[in-house]
Amino acid sequence: MKRALVAGAGGFIGHHLVNFLKQKGYWVRGVDIKEPEFEKSRSDEFYLLDLRYWGNCLEATKGIDEVYQLAADMGGIGYISGNHAEIAKNNILINTHMLEASYQNGVKRYFYSSSACIYPSYRQQSADVIPLKEEDAMPADPEEGYGWEKLFAEKLCQYYQEDKGMETRVARFHNVYGPLGTYKGGREKAPAAICRKIALAEDSSEIEIWGDGKQTRSFLYIQDCVEGIYLITQSDYPKPLNLGSEELVTIDQLVEMTAKVANKNIRIRHNLSKPQGVRGRNSDNSKLYKITGWMPKFSLLEGLKLTYPWIAERVAQERNMQGCQ
Ligand code: NAD
Ligand code: GDD
Repeated sequence: MKRALVAGAGGFIGHHLVNFLKQKGYWVRGVDIKEPEFEKSRSDEFYLLDLRYWGNCLEATKGIDEVYQLAADMGGIGYISGNHAEIAKNNILINTHMLEASYQNGVKRYFYSSSACIYPSYRQQSADVIPLKEEDAMPADPEEGYGWEKLFAEKLCQYYQEDKGMETRVARFHNVYGPLGTYKGGREKAPAAICRKIALAEDSSEIEIWGDGKQTRSFLYIQDCVEGIYLITQSDYPKPLNLGSEELVTIDQLVEMTAKVANKNIRIRHNLSKPQGVRGRNSDNSKLYKITGWMPKFSLLEGLKLTYPWIAERVAQERNMQGCQ
């Protein structure tokens, strides 16, 4: 039986990945600074460890065949644009120590969760954006803080592969969403934030949307994400690969689709003073498809039909709790 470590198993993607690996028959150790928020982890053992610290990384990676490194100080554009120093410092400590500890403990395969935030801003200035290919990453001009750290951690994976012979695999996630993800508190990304705002809104009322609503993104459903992580890890391809959807929508279209799923009439109030990130971003998955045969199975509408009810139920439960107090 293969032994996997999921670092960041208390978080959104890590928690879903634990479930996926268990279904595949793995023995799984989950590690995080916190337990999963919404349901118990199905990992065989769960360690509460702060992976910024060297000794904890050594303990976490001991006796492990495959490491899935998803632990990070992370959030949506509101969070990452306001915390450059803290995010870059925390994540560089986690990634440097996790790579070296994995190497020292003889880990056979190391997966690293990078981000579309490594792509240069000069390629993402138009809403009608050309889908990003892996080679577009250079010359570098990534997102401040979070994006620079992710890009350097990608390079570290490359160096450990080239100099030390450790098999490293890297995926660049493009905005992943789904049930059991963060939907409030400041770290939530656009799909979850919009689901929450619509769930809280009365029919025919108004919600606030950041920016003019014409900025574009593609959004990847969580089940497609964990399948892609697994295929990339098992592949022979050592360089970074996009893992995203190619279904480009404006943020206003995302709101319209979510309102339709919620069966509510919603008016939008645009707030231009809020963080907006790049103007347009889309994934080009052709390399990943060629290497692994992966393509997303869930359209955005299908993913929202699974995500909105989960967030709406949480919002309703919170309202009931407040009503009881
Ligand atoms: P998440 O915040 O839900 O999960 C990250 C987990 O890392 C959290 O549970 C957090 O507690 C844990 N963590 C943070 N600091 C830690 C520390 N010092 N020690 C141990 N654990 C620590 O985020 P997610 O959406 O599940 O993201 C997982 C990975 O994918 C991250 O590396 C993130 O940067 C990357 N990523 C995610 C997206 C996305 O759209 N969700 C996009 C690009 C990249
Ligand atoms: N978070 C959020 N909340 N975004 C909103 C909201 C809202 O209420 N309303 C509109 N938006 C807009 C933002 O202004 C931005 O233009 C767009 O929706 C997408 O925002 P996010 O989902 O927060 O982030 P992002 O796509 O710019 O970047 C995210 O994805 C990267 C990978 O593709 C971040 O989560 C990064 O950390 C991640 O690496």
